[in-house]
Amino acid sequence: MSSYLDRIGAGFIISNPEALDFDFVPNEIVGRETIQSELANKFASIDRHDSSCRAVITGPVGSGKTVLAKTFCRDLQRHLANKREIIIAHINCRNASTSTRVVQRILHEIDPGHPDRGLSMGELLLSLRKLTRKNSSHLIVVLDEVDHMLRKSGDDLLYQLLRIDEDQQGKGTLSLILISQEQVLDVLETAVISRMGKTNLIQIPPYRFEELSKIAKQRASMALNEGTYSEEILNLIADKAVHSGDARLVIELIKAAGEASEFRQDAHTERRITIKDVYSQDENLAIDVISEIQSVDDLRPHEMLVLLSICRRLRKEETMTTGDVEQLYAVVCEEYGQKMKSHTTIWKYLKELEKRQIIVSRIASIADGRGRTTHLSMPHFLPADLVNRVEMLLKKRLK
Ligand SMILES: Nc1ncnc2c1ncn2[C@@H]1O[C@H](COP(=O)(O)OP(=O)(O)OP(=O)(O)O)[C@@H](O)[C@H]1O
Ligand SMILES: [Mg+2]
Repeated sequence: MSSYLDRIGAGFIISNPEALDFDFVPNEIVGRETIQSELANKFASIDRHDSSCRAVITGPVGSGKTVLAKTFCRDLQRHLANKREIIIAHINCRNASTSTRVVQRILHEIDPGHPDRGLSMGELLLSLRKLTRKNSSHLIVVLDEVDHMLRKSGDDLLYQLLRIDEDQQGKGTLSLILISQEQVLDVLETAVISRMGKTNLIQIPPYRFEELSKIAKQRASMALNEGTYSEEILNLIADKAVHSGDARLVIELIKAAGEASEFRQDAHTERRITIKDVYSQDENLAIDVISEIQSVDDLRPHEMLVLLSICRRLRKEETMTTGDVEQLYAVVCEEYGQKMKSHTTIWKYLKELEKRQIIVSRIASIADGRGRTTHLSMPHFLPADLVNRVEMLLKKRLK
């Protein structure tokens, strides 16, 4: 009777949906080795009992700030297991945006039963001092999206946390990591900046294609069934996210494509993610914002013929080479009764299509290491949609 529910839990494509959740933390991160070393460097002395460290991490949306800090603190905790006990309080200041809420959360991380209601800031800080002293462990406070707290409550709490050991006998009680998309150091008072240390700033760049592709591979291998995706499909996904440099978009695209493929499975379908599955949620993921389909309307007739040859191939394949374009363009010219343009002109047309963000090109080394080749893909449009539009336009232009 309720056979439509059969697909629930079937897992033809997606084997582990949790790995695609927005707050899932992978066991290790990929493609950020240099930044990880930089952060470890700021904490080089943390194994010593009297040492406190500090870092400020900034970078654009989805550049991996949160996951970098989370995996770093977790790895550090394990690494120092026999030397120094580390307690981690990772607080997201978007959810706890006043300084009082932030201290309450920190206390809650150390002592889940701590009564926090009705206590003043002074009393909360006193509790924090006492607690950290009592269990002689080292506390790492991570204030994620700290700009939210700074806007509401200013930087006084930072000042208090940074001088927690002053006027006390203790030393090395607390380390602090601040995370923000914005350059927060600029808005801090001089006394706070000098305690944080100007040189403790780590600026993370947006992800590039190679890193997004690695992240896509790692996440797909954790979340999807083997054999349901190809490397080319994952590269297409990385291409789609590269303009934003946002790793979250890669994961959302894998999820969207996986779910679209899962949705159309029946007894006769191939258990694979197709190119069309990858584009299935573009409207919701707002990927097309950079380019409208109308941007092809004023191309010159031969630019359209080149585009048509590209689209026809990319309906079935994720990428193609410039050599493929020339071959297919020759076929298309014959079909439309046109004389082919020269190699150099075709190359100019490709540049124009790239400028309009209709295609994306990427230079890759050939597998056997003998030279490099240019790969073209169409991350922002479904090639089949463009074929229809260009064929219609060409009919008018070449009359
Ligand atoms: N290098 C990486 N390896 C594996 N997964 C990654 C990597 N970088 C980011 N991710 C994943 O991408 C998603 C976004 O990363 P994260 O939340 O750390 O970004 P962020 O910089 O904190 O973004 P925001 O500014 O929006 O807070 C997360 O699901 C995270 O697990
Ligand atoms: Mg974050």
